[in-house]
Amino acid sequence: IEGSGDSSKVVATLPSGESVEVLLFGATVTSWKSNGGKTENLWLSEKAALDGSKAVRGGVPVVFPVFGPPPKSGHPTSSLPQHGFARTSRWEFLGKSTSEDTVDSNSVKLDFGLYSKGVSEEARKAWPLDFGLVYSVTLSKDSLQTIINVRNEGETSFEFQFLLHTYLKVNDISKVAINGLTGVSYIDKVLDASTHSQSGSITITGEVDRVYQSIPQDTTSVVEDGTPRFDVVRDNLPDTVVWNPWVEKAKAMGDFAPDEDYKHMVCVEVGAVNGWQKLEKGEVFEGGQTIKSLL
Ligand code: BG6
Repeated sequence: IEGSGDSSKVVATLPSGESVEVLLFGATVTSWKSNGGKTENLWLSEKAALDGSKAVRGGVPVVFPVFGPPPKSGHPTSSLPQHGFARTSRWEFLGKSTSEDTVDSNSVKLDFGLYSKGVSEEARKAWPLDFGLVYSVTLSKDSLQTIINVRNEGETSFEFQFLLHTYLKVNDISKVAINGLTGVSYIDKVLDASTHSQSGSITITGEVDRVYQSIPQDTTSVVEDGTPRFDVVRDNLPDTVVWNPWVEKAKAMGDFAPDEDYKHMVCVEVGAVNGWQKLEKGEVFEGGQTIKSLL
C-alpha cells in the first residue's frame, strides 16, 4: 500500500512491466498499463479527486447498489446518491496473490472488501442492509479482469444494481467504432429514455448515453482507425452502458479536465442495471469483465 488515508493505493507490476493501480477509495482502478508498461489503457481526468473528497472521474469506478439516479421513492435505494456508495467508500485491501504458471502467463490478483460496517453512517442509514462485497482485480500481460462478488449477509432479501464505470482511453473519438451490439435494444438517455435497436457499429459524433440491455454477445469491441483496440468481455452481466459527455457536458463537469478530453475517452460500462438483482439471505452473486488491450 502506497500513500495514506483516503489517498492510499495498491500498485502491482508484472515482471514484464505491465501495471495496475487501485485506490482504496472506491476500490477505483486509476491506471492500467499494458504493452510492457508503455500503454495506458484507462482515461483519468486531470482534475479527478484522488483524495477521497468525491468519486473519481476516470479509471474504473464501482457502481453499487444503484445505477444512475435511484428510483424517486418506494425503493430501498431511493435515498442513496447517484451510482450508490461503493465508489465513495473506503475499501479494505484483502491481499495479493500471484500466479506464475509460465513466463508468459504471469498474473497478479488484488482483492478488496467492503462490508455494511465499512460504509458511511449516511449510506448505512439510507440502505440498512447487511452485505459483503469482494472485488478482485487481476492483471495479466494483455488484460485486466475485474470481478465482483456480492453476498447477502443479512436476514432478509435485498435488491441491487451493479456496474463497472470503465473510462477507456482512446486517441481520437472520431475514429472510434464500437462493435458487438448489433440488434441489441437500448434506452437512449439523451432522447428522453426512448427505446431503440442498434444497427451496425456505434460511432460517436455527439453526446451519447445509452443503456444496452440483455446483450446476447459476450464481447463488445472498441476499434480505432480500423484497428482493434479493446475487447470488453462480460461475465454474468447482461447490460452495457456507452457514454461520452461530448462538448457541453464535459465542460459542465467541474472535475472533467481538460475540457476537450471527451475526444480521448469513451465509457463502456458493463453491468446489471435493467431491473434488479435479488439476493436471498446467504446468497451470492458474481459478475464482472475482462478487458483485453489489443495494441
Ligand atoms: C453514466 C450515466 O453511467 O455515468 C450517465 O449513464 C452519467 O447518465 C455518467 O452522466 C456519469 O455519472 P457521474 O455521477 O459520475 O457524473
